[in-house]
Amino acid sequence: MAHISQTPVPPTSGVVGGSTSSDPAATVHVPVRPATPAPASGTSAAFGSSAAFGAPATGTAAGARGAAKLPTSCDFTVFGGTGDLAMRKLLPALYSRDLEGHLPADTRIIGVSRSELDDDGYRAEVRAALHRFVEPERLDETVVERLLGRLHHLCLDAHDPEGWHLLHALLKDRPHEEETIRVFYLAVAPVIFGPTCNRLADLGLADERARVVMEKPIGHDLESSREVNDAVGDVFDEKQIFRIDHYLGKESVQNLLVTRFANTFLEPLWSSRWVDHVQITAAETVGVGTRGGYYDHAGAMRDMLQNHLLQLLCLVAMEPPTFVGRENVRDEKLKVLQALRPLTPADVDRLTVRGQYGAGLVDGAPAAGYNEDLGEHVPEGGSRTETFVALRAEVQNWRWAGVPFYLRTGKRMSTRYSEIVVVFKQPPHEMFPHATGPVVGNRLHIRVQPDEGMQLLVTAKEPGPGGIRLRPVSLDLSYATTFAERSPDAYERLLMDVVRGDPTLFMRRDEVEAAWTWVAPILETWAASHEAPKRYPAGTSGPYASAALLERDGRSWQEPDQ
Ligand code: BG6
Repeated sequence: MAHISQTPVPPTSGVVGGSTSSDPAATVHVPVRPATPAPASGTSAAFGSSAAFGAPATGTAAGARGAAKLPTSCDFTVFGGTGDLAMRKLLPALYSRDLEGHLPADTRIIGVSRSELDDDGYRAEVRAALHRFVEPERLDETVVERLLGRLHHLCLDAHDPEGWHLLHALLKDRPHEEETIRVFYLAVAPVIFGPTCNRLADLGLADERARVVMEKPIGHDLESSREVNDAVGDVFDEKQIFRIDHYLGKESVQNLLVTRFANTFLEPLWSSRWVDHVQITAAETVGVGTRGGYYDHAGAMRDMLQNHLLQLLCLVAMEPPTFVGRENVRDEKLKVLQALRPLTPADVDRLTVRGQYGAGLVDGAPAAGYNEDLGEHVPEGGSRTETFVALRAEVQNWRWAGVPFYLRTGKRMSTRYSEIVVVFKQPPHEMFPHATGPVVGNRLHIRVQPDEGMQLLVTAKEPGPGGIRLRPVSLDLSYATTFAERSPDAYERLLMDVVRGDPTLFMRRDEVEAAWTWVAPILETWAASHEAPKRYPAGTSGPYASAALLERDGRSWQEPDQ
């Protein structure tokens, strides 16, 4: 991150007047053009070689992009190399970085799985995946061929020593072997994490140039997450372990940090003094698809809330770190997790809602219910796994005491969107007694996806004579229209950060455990309850109880069309 300059920034040009739209929440577009970069007052020494937030402050976007190229040779070994995550996310992400010229020429990618595939067979599968999952306008056949040329596949069974020796031989057999960074990506079930790390250690592959990447959820609860972390921690140092929460790699989520900490206007407002409450929603229209076997043992709490939503909450609620990088951010996030008010069983009944989708209509098309989607994975008597969670949390510290944080996530909801809404308090008394129209509380919408951006809802005077008419309007920052650059996928950034050894956007062990500690009473109370999750039709915004959770507090969820 460049140091914040005190150089006056030229005013943004041409603020456009009020929209002629009759929409009550009309939009005023404020073209935010990136201000002329001020000369950097220093370099990013404080961030080490990090480029996550610490790309050398060259002062130009081109300079920062230049710094995105990996400085060292690297071998990515993906355990679960033929799986859904590898095909859908990891390989397209590496393709994208290759397209941008960020992968050194001798980078290799070794897919490891139990499939009986040779290198060519693997390349054919990856080629098909790239054609399926990379945006067509970004497909360049020359780069596709280059990426395929980097690929190898090893058929490896955890108990078969021969396969492991082949992996060892392959990793050793390359130029600049002694300087090469080795990334071991564990895109497999957490029970295999420990044994895999042990094999790597036995082969001498777990040295200081190695990094291991783990996918969430880490474990099933606090105890099992400790077991997984212990097993991996026996082999690798914490600084070599990268626990991915891909929400932290999303551009809009990183921008939340920049908006909070590279500007001054929000900080005085960012507390219980001016904030009424915060809403965090991650809504999906998809169902469980082919992941029923995994999902029915996880549910929305373990799959989304314990990690993605709590991480977003942390970024909203955390104190300003000394600087944004490395352990500072993780230290501050940990404090937030530790400050979450623990829920008693009675609180769980009152302040949490779990739901499960039934049949309904999504985007106008009929969609089956959860049990039907589970197919062969449906347990006898039907599943009691939640596909929706809503809850009210509180952060017990000076800044946030008394401010509710409402969190909600679900599958098969009406619209796919993830958003953080900070709802500010109403003005303390009525200043326009004769005005018509509503005085709405200001709201800051931080749109994580899709259409990343930010909107600030303010009350304005409708132009014209005849008294004062109030109208809520929104000041919009849309990434797509403001920045010419495409927003890279979260995995693109995170994979590069792993190679650089920058942990800022990854979860530290104590964070994961603090998150499990907080959700444990919720999971336990649900497990002990005779009540089934509340049913909601696919294509809706969840069970009625979720709306009631806020209505009881005199509030309501901000839906995307509001
Ligand atoms: C994953 C969950 O972590 O996040 C999935 O396991 C979910 O169930 C996905 O669909 C959502 O990610 P995104 O980036 O599409 O919001």
